[in-house]
Amino acid sequence: MVLEPSKIKELKQKKNRVEEFEEFEQTIRPKYLDEYIGQNNIKENLKIFIEAAKKREDALEHVLLHGPPGLGKTTLANIISHEMCVNIKTTSGPAIEKPGDLAAILSNLKEFDILFIDEIHRLKPVVEEILYSAMEDYTLDIIIGKGPSARTMRINLPKFTLIGATTKAGALSSPLRDRFGNIFKLNFYNEEDISRIINRSSRILKCNLDGNATIEIARCSRFTPRIANRLLKRLRDFALIKHQGEINSNVVIKGLDALGIDNRGLEYTDRELLKIIVDKFDGGPVGLNTIAAALGEESETIEDLYEPYLMQIGFLKRTNRGRVVTKHAYDHLDIEFLNNQTQWIK
Ligand code: ADE
Repeated sequence: MVLEPSKIKELKQKKNRVEEFEEFEQTIRPKYLDEYIGQNNIKENLKIFIEAAKKREDALEHVLLHGPPGLGKTTLANIISHEMCVNIKTTSGPAIEKPGDLAAILSNLKEFDILFIDEIHRLKPVVEEILYSAMEDYTLDIIIGKGPSARTMRINLPKFTLIGATTKAGALSSPLRDRFGNIFKLNFYNEEDISRIINRSSRILKCNLDGNATIEIARCSRFTPRIANRLLKRLRDFALIKHQGEINSNVVIKGLDALGIDNRGLEYTDRELLKIIVDKFDGGPVGLNTIAAALGEESETIEDLYEPYLMQIGFLKRTNRGRVVTKHAYDHLDIEFLNNQTQWIK
């Protein structure tokens, strides 16, 4: 196939944009534990286990990272590879379709390499089974042929470290979970750490950011670094095009308003979710699937993306009869609370 010169130019520009974006993301992501803000307990433990593994000239034991999206599981996996000075191969549960796909990935690893599997809870059971012996004995049992003539062949793998990340630790089977030597739960950050992350990113991105603006962005970041960095980048655009480049309180207020984000970091769908429970189900209790149908979202999206933060700020409670909206949420939405829900909130 012969490409027109204009098409070649367009493809080159597209490639440059992708590379620029990746470079840009890489620069604000911390590379070493000392640059990583927050999650202090995980950091302190990891420092010791990494130092010990290096001293023994051994691979780090398998690591499971779990917690809500955007808190830095992928960043930590990459930090571990930098700290251990080893290569990292990244994939995800849904991307590995067949046992053979995983076998190919595993047999291409070099000694002490890291295999990072994001969304590890989404591995198919037949694929997951391959991991058991790979994690425990560094062996791969593959079946050659079909039917009565089928035979198994055992392949030795190099010693490697599996890092699994998941938003749903409860969805992992116990044989898989039990094979991780290190299990870390990432918690939501506090506002002070989010402010420090915003300041660090603004220095790297060379943003002109004032102190009050940092605090206001932090307040609307859902205690989540990914959201804090995304807001910072969007507000940097508003400041550049409409406000002579400086991100101050005025830019933050106007920018967040334009983005539909309120002063607790709630977006349109969060507010809709709460309002549906209030308007259609008297504030709850109501089951997740019913909310999902009324909102037109997947139950899983609601559970993984919206609920953790709403529960963290005390706007939503999970009871054994279903979800209940709290008085805090009524106050925030400026809706009168008629006190008929309190019986469900223990
Ligand atoms: N960027 C995203 N997450 C971060 C963290 N935990 N520390 C520093 N910078 C970050």
